[in-house]
Parts: sequence; structure tokens; C-alpha cells
Amino acid sequence: MLRFGARLIAQLSAGQVVCLTGDLGAGKTTLVRGMIQSLLGPIDVPSPTYTLVQTYEGPEFELWHCDVYRLEKPEDGYELGLIEAFEDALCLIEWPDKIEPLIPEDALHINIAFEGEGRKLTMTGFKGIT
Ligand SMILES: Nc1ncnc2c1ncn2[C@@H]1O[C@H](COP(=O)(O)OP(=O)(O)OP(=O)(O)O)[C@@H](O)[C@H]1O
Ligand SMILES: [Mg+2]
Repeated sequence: MLRFGARLIAQLSAGQVVCLTGDLGAGKTTLVRGMIQSLLGPIDVPSPTYTLVQTYEGPEFELWHCDVYRLEKPEDGYELGLIEAFEDALCLIEWPDKIEPLIPEDALHINIAFEGEGRKLTMTGFKGIT
């Protein structure tokens, strides 16, 4: 998962939104950790379960790691500054269904499913296409 994150982030840049879905404990935060640590070294990448957003200063752009599970309604995403971040930063979002109406059409969707002791990842380029 960490190695895949490192390969994935090399393909991404500012203004892109990556939505991470999958059950509790599927590995969404682990994948983000792989992405961020490959850019910034072995720093702490905590789950933003309570803070909702953790930002990181990348070499070229800001990274936003969001876990919006606790957001009560999608509109609360405006207060978090998500709309601006979708434009300017690379945003990695856990539980994107909570803010579904705010998610850009061209977001990358990655679903993580349990498969035996491992995980199966399904990537979708656009909404509705599998
Ligand atoms: N590919 C994998 N194979 C086996 N275990 C994994 C894999 N990816 C992550 N894990 C393990 O699964 C556990 C949960 O991972 P993680 O916290 O990343 O899940 P999450 O999807 O972010 O959960 P939450 O829904 O609570 O935010 C961790 O112990 C992690 O090490
Ligand atoms: Mg998580």
C-alpha cells in the first residue's frame, strides 16, 4: 500500500482530487501515508479523523489530507476551505460520499476492498465509469 502510494503520487499534481473509499480500516490512511512520506520523508502522517484536515507543504504544492467522516453536512465543506483547496492543492479525501455534491467531476476515485489478508484497489477516472 505504501509503495503503491509512492508510485501514485508521482503521477499527481496541484488541482487534482483523489477520493478514497472503502470500509473502516480498509487502508485509506495508509495509502495517503505512502503518498505523503514518499514526497516529504518519514514524517508522521496521522489520521485526520478528528482534525478533519491535515495540510502538508510539498516541494511544489500544498497537500490536503481530509477525512470528512465526521462532517454533518456537505455544506460544512465550504468552511473547511475545500473548494479553494480543490483548485490549488492536491487533495486526498477519505469518506468523500459525505461531501458528494462538492466533489469535482474529474476526481480520481480509488476504492479499497478487503481481499483475504490483502486489499484490492479499483481506480475510476471519472464518476460513473468503472
Ligand atoms: N494492503 C494492506 N494489507 C494489509 N493490511 C493493510 C493494508 N493496508 C492497510 N492495512 C492495515 O489496515 C489497518 C487500517 O488501515 P487505515 O487506518 O489506513 O484504514 P482506513 O481505511 O484509513 O480506516 P478509517 O476508515 O478508520 O479511516 C492498519 O493497521 C493498516 O496497517
Ligand atoms: Mg483513515
